[in-house]
Amino acid sequence: MRLKNKICAITGAGKGIGRSAAELFAAEGAKVFILELDERNGNEAEHAIRRAGHQAVFIKCDVSDNSSVQAAFERVAADVGTLHVLYNNASVYLNGKDGLITDIKPDIWNRVISINLTSIYHCCHFAIPMMIKSGGGSIINTASSAGVIGIPGCDAYTATKGATVALTRSLASEYGRFGIRVNCIAPAAIATDMVKQSNPDGDDFDAASFINLRTPVRRWGKPEEVAALALFLASDESSYINGTIIAADGGITINGDLAKVKTAPKTDRVMKGN
Ligand SMILES: NC(=O)c1ccc[n+]([C@@H]2O[C@H](COP(=O)([O-])OP(=O)(O)OC[C@H]3O[C@@H](n4cnc5c(N)ncnc54)[C@H](O)[C@@H]3O)[C@@H](O)[C@H]2O)c1
Repeated sequence: MRLKNKICAITGAGKGIGRSAAELFAAEGAKVFILELDERNGNEAEHAIRRAGHQAVFIKCDVSDNSSVQAAFERVAADVGTLHVLYNNASVYLNGKDGLITDIKPDIWNRVISINLTSIYHCCHFAIPMMIKSGGGSIINTASSAGVIGIPGCDAYTATKGATVALTRSLASEYGRFGIRVNCIAPAAIATDMVKQSNPDGDDFDAASFINLRTPVRRWGKPEEVAALALFLASDESSYINGTIIAADGGITINGDLAKVKTAPKTDRVMKGN
């Protein structure tokens, strides 16, 4: 029960990494507020967590919309009056629309910035005063390998993730004195719907496609593996960890430019004895 009696808000928790985190946080004793745009998935997540005997509340919320986020946190305040953890997880990758900066249409650029980045402003704006009142807490932001290394062909997405890294550091340095820690997870290659869209091999999660993407551990990550890191950052176990950007990517980021390698590296042939 690493989050016993903690109140947690997780954005985009209807599916993927956010859903895994919602299930894990609730199983560890938290009451989880699922701030999600997709009504069907949001309700489904709430019911699944409740069926498992844990606490969850779905609030329909568009994180890119200030008044929608304000209404969501007002509901949290009315329900429990406190907040300990904010996990800014919701984002979009607009396959086929995001791309080279010379090709991206202005409305697409603005939409990505607003869902992936301005959402963090909206959520922090309303959540931080509640956290200060609660005596402190933990904010977990979500970047990507795209925020840490150069990845071509998704410039709007990449811009938001780089800004998320920078914002994490400035928030951490400001709000540490209020007992609020702010950290950031930079995932890559986690088997979710978002990656199915962005994977150059389509929705093929087999090992061969992954070797092409240079993942040192030679497999896709699971949403639960990111959720486990989020749990650590949410809990008091990480009480002296503030302002860090932690990759959850099987080591993919250390390999640099993901566009380069299209064949298995030589070491794999050595291992097979030829
Ligand atoms: N999967 C990966 O390998 C990977 C890699 C890098 C970064 N990430 C980041 O991890 C986070 C989770 O990614 P995922 O793979 O689970 O994605 P996903 O697409 O599976 O889930 C995203 C969730 O966010 C919700 N959402 C989208 N727009 C919203 C809005 N305006 N308001 C509220 N909710 C909204 C969606 O409905 C969905 O439930 C994202 O921030 C993503 O950028 C993931």
